[in-house]
Amino acid sequence: MQRWTVDLDQEDWRDDPQARGVVAAILAGELVAIPTETVYGLAADATNGLACAKIYEAKGRPQFNPLISHLPSFEAAQQHGIFDEDACRLAEAFWPGPLTIVVPKQAGSTISDLATAGLDTVALRVPSGPVMRFLSETSGVPLAAPSANISGRVSTTTADEVARDLEGALSFIVDAGPCPVGIESTIVACVDGTPRLLRPGGLAREEIERVLGRALEGASPAANPEAPQAPGMLTSHYAPNARMRLNADEVRDAEALLSFGAHPVGAAETAVAEINLSPSGDLAEAAARLFSAMRELDRTGAETICVQSIPMTGLGEAINDRLQRAAAPRP
Ligand code: TXA
Ligand code: MG
Repeated sequence: MQRWTVDLDQEDWRDDPQARGVVAAILAGELVAIPTETVYGLAADATNGLACAKIYEAKGRPQFNPLISHLPSFEAAQQHGIFDEDACRLAEAFWPGPLTIVVPKQAGSTISDLATAGLDTVALRVPSGPVMRFLSETSGVPLAAPSANISGRVSTTTADEVARDLEGALSFIVDAGPCPVGIESTIVACVDGTPRLLRPGGLAREEIERVLGRALEGASPAANPEAPQAPGMLTSHYAPNARMRLNADEVRDAEALLSFGAHPVGAAETAVAEINLSPSGDLAEAAARLFSAMRELDRTGAETICVQSIPMTGLGEAINDRLQRAAAPRP
């Protein structure tokens, strides 16, 4: 596995010869890990069925769970999906950015059936993270990329975490530092004239509803675990090894603490370890730290991670969704 370390502050990062190596690997049907603004993606050429098969294999992911395809622009996305008025409005308002739109697949789309798991809809995203966009543009193919973690584990937000989970499967890892949003994209489906929230994520529901001028239909999968609307939104999905105890108002013996805000429920001395997602109570900061914090507390070997309650407003909906999945009974 080769590693390309990108310094986004350098204007000429795109000219690095390593970039050509990554593009060649993509076009050869190999797997590469690429950062986005949300989380790291395990990426491959979405038009190459064999390459997409390698993604499922590397993640140990159930085959029925379709992948998001990443494009460099709205124009490029329109070659693969049919955008109704709401979908256009959302794409124009929020792309590039942490929003995935599920739309009917264009008849002429070259995205492989394995990437869409045989559905007649397709999940498309134009990320604001410049590396994924650049590599899709330069390789000239949409990049299928689920989060770069073993299936059922928390998503990765740093290159080191990716390497820990997936090193053996990758020909390249692109390291551009930690992902600024830290939580996966929000997924909205525009397929039947009614925009539906399939997964809360890095773009708050309130912002989407403001642009649409109406409320989003569809409960979050966490609220209705018996009827996951995004295939593969399995209830227990973001599982660390430790048990998770939510809405804790005290730290019990031998627990690790994931705290939030200025008044942690337990003193640092009581907990095996403590990470505060945001001492100032900032939900964006908490989202950015969430997955790394869960992984780090998990590595302490604590049997239980107790989590202080986090408000449901803004990005709090996505944070609570991920925490509930992590705490759900394991399959
Ligand atoms: O932020 C993100 O979205 C990251 C980065 C890498 O872009 N990607 C990500 O992908 O979280 P993944 O595979 O972990 O989650 C994609 C979700 C899955 O739950 C899948 O079921 C849903 O998108 N999905 C994909 N295609 C779909 C479709 N046609 N209809 C409904 N849901 C779909
Ligand atoms: Mg995932």
